[in-house]
Amino acid sequence: MADERLIAALDVHTMDDVERLVTTLGDSVSYYKVGMELFYSVGAQVVTWLREQGKDVFLDLKLHDIPNTAAGGICSLMRLGATMLNVHASGGYTMMKTTAERMHAEAEEMGIACPKLIAVTVLTSINQEDWEGMGQALQIKGAVVRLAKLAKKAGLDGVVASAQEAALIREACGEDFLIVTPGIRPAGSETHDQSRVATPASALTDGSTHLVVGRPIYAAADPKAAAEAIINEMENVR
Ligand code: C5P
Repeated sequence: MADERLIAALDVHTMDDVERLVTTLGDSVSYYKVGMELFYSVGAQVVTWLREQGKDVFLDLKLHDIPNTAAGGICSLMRLGATMLNVHASGGYTMMKTTAERMHAEAEEMGIACPKLIAVTVLTSINQEDWEGMGQALQIKGAVVRLAKLAKKAGLDGVVASAQEAALIREACGEDFLIVTPGIRPAGSETHDQSRVATPASALTDGSTHLVVGRPIYAAADPKAAAEAIINEMENVR
């Protein structure tokens, strides 16, 4: 049976691929991540279809704009039925706060469950050299914690973060804060292009609340068996 902490990334391009994978995974997976590539290819129908199948949807579109525009964008995505949405914390405190407030107010007005709003702190693809090239003086880890605290202060529900950052964020932001972690690889599996990976159990132990898993599930010879093996490992950490 599904573990609501597992989010399978739908890194495919067509509705046919989505329907095939979601049908194959069946009751094993209840939460899916839709990113830019899929959303920009097939549009809102992917969210509608997943919701019709009873699935939760993390719409990972990482909005970054002025407060009024980001808030309007998030409210539009909320109306599609997304369960979780995100913005870049580097859009600033006012952008995050305005977006969270508008989303909550509009959800209440519509009488719908408010989605979770989380922040991307520093993209995990940015290394120290890129970071300094952007004129940043803080160490990346320090900036991640600072941006996570800012997101919390602005009323967001959590952050996207690597497992390596999870413990620090948990300590700084408290127990209720969501930490959604990609780069998950079951022990012994291929890492692909991810450089900072963690196993499902170790990420949860370090404080992650949700695990985003792409290739270890959708590229497996038997995706359902792969998802179930991950869920078994997760069940040992509650
Ligand atoms: O295939 P894999 O498990 O590496 O997929 C991870 C998913 O999480 C992909 O959709 C990737 O874009 C996303 N992601 C990530 N690292 C981040 C943010 C998102 O890997 N920092």
